[in-house]
Amino acid sequence: MKLTIIGCGYLGATHAACMAELGHDVLGMDADMDKVRVLNSGKAPFYEPGLDDLLAKHTASGRLKFTASYAEAARFGELHFIGVGTPQQAAENAYDLTHLFSAIRRLATHLLGPAVVAVKSTVPVGTAAHVAKILEESAPAGGKVQVAWNPEFLRESSAIEDTLRPDRLVLGFDSEQSWGEAVLRQCFRKIIEAGTPTIVTDWATAELAKTSANSFLATKISFINAMAEVCEATGADVHELAEILGHDVRIGRSGMRPGLGFGGGCLPKDLRGFLARAGELGVDRALTFLHEIDAINNGRRERMVALVREQLGDTLASRRITIWGAAFKPGTDDIRDSPALAVAQGLHELGATVTVSDPKALDNARKHHPELGHVEDPVAAARGADLLLHLTEWPQFRHVDPERLARRVRTAKVIDGRGTLDLGSWRRAGWTVRALGRA
Ligand code: UGA
Repeated sequence: MKLTIIGCGYLGATHAACMAELGHDVLGMDADMDKVRVLNSGKAPFYEPGLDDLLAKHTASGRLKFTASYAEAARFGELHFIGVGTPQQAAENAYDLTHLFSAIRRLATHLLGPAVVAVKSTVPVGTAAHVAKILEESAPAGGKVQVAWNPEFLRESSAIEDTLRPDRLVLGFDSEQSWGEAVLRQCFRKIIEAGTPTIVTDWATAELAKTSANSFLATKISFINAMAEVCEATGADVHELAEILGHDVRIGRSGMRPGLGFGGGCLPKDLRGFLARAGELGVDRALTFLHEIDAINNGRRERMVALVREQLGDTLASRRITIWGAAFKPGTDDIRDSPALAVAQGLHELGATVTVSDPKALDNARKHHPELGHVEDPVAAARGADLLLHLTEWPQFRHVDPERLARRVRTAKVIDGRGTLDLGSWRRAGWTVRALGRA
């Protein structure tokens, strides 16, 4: 098939490359010319494992191209995926849908014949109807343009695998006899034939599938992090507790790693956007608990700062703190709402000299947090430190020898915010050890 994807960020660029991998002819469209240039050279403008290889393979095979022109995208094919960002509004909890509506309007004016517009962006429930109205009013093809809602569940750091072998496909339409369904089934034929559960539903359910999934994932994380607080107060160990709970198949172990909590461009924003939408719909009481999920999450960052003060005293001026981790999680260079950087910034504001180390996200950290020191090598970053914080669980950090590191720092004190360091070996190497969720 010939298809396009409008908006080539983490979602769109990955989707474009994966659709080419499925055998389609793909045109990615993004308004940012620099991004288009980089993508056309077969590289991703961000770090995602395996994506450079896939982009290189398919830009070379001729199956994948990128453009900054809406007109070219509209002419290219009859299936248009929309993957533009829907961030949180600056001073509100609600989603900022400006980019989405603007992309739909600009594409619409060039749609001369039948087309399916399949939206993947995360939105408040009710947006599909609005998108359909814009298309009906602005597209020359009018009612011949169909809207499909196709939420995307990929995780950064496993985005390719999640796209090519998803847990489920969700296709939302406004009527039961939609020819758009046949188009999308053809597009995802290989994925469907591999046995992927495929749920065809209405627009609202498809929209809700995404915000409610992210809210559930956030709830699971905040639940175990609330238990972590209880563990700290009682001498229990939250990591062992998570394992015990996780063996109950009704609870499950995955997505329940305790630690510094969730960040990124999705979970925090989707919780808040969902709450804002529930308020508009008059069902805010049903979701009040999500405020608490958000508060527990932010509380872990505050708890980390409190642990630092417990270790170094209240006066942090002239103290040197090294933070391992800048990305919001391992396997990405994305620093949006990064728990590690929130803690780094908080400590900097309290007067500490903070140096961060990260294998992939240092350029982004440098750009957005010039007030911090930035050193890629985790051992060099810790030189002269009074305290080391482990805040993003990159595997590289686990392999640093604590004995060698003890010789570089000023004081051998470490706080593990992610629970993945082998604290026994750190203690044996002379470190004073603290951890979230452990006495
Ligand atoms: C999340 C969802 O997992 C995806 O299904 C969804 O498609 C995506 O948002 C989106 O809306 O686009 P992502 O933000 O890439 O994906 O990352 P996750 O792996 O879910 O992690 C989110 C945050 O939670 C990270 O900061 C991570 O460190 C934290 N986390 C995750 C935990 O603290 N504990 C866990 O057990 C899992």
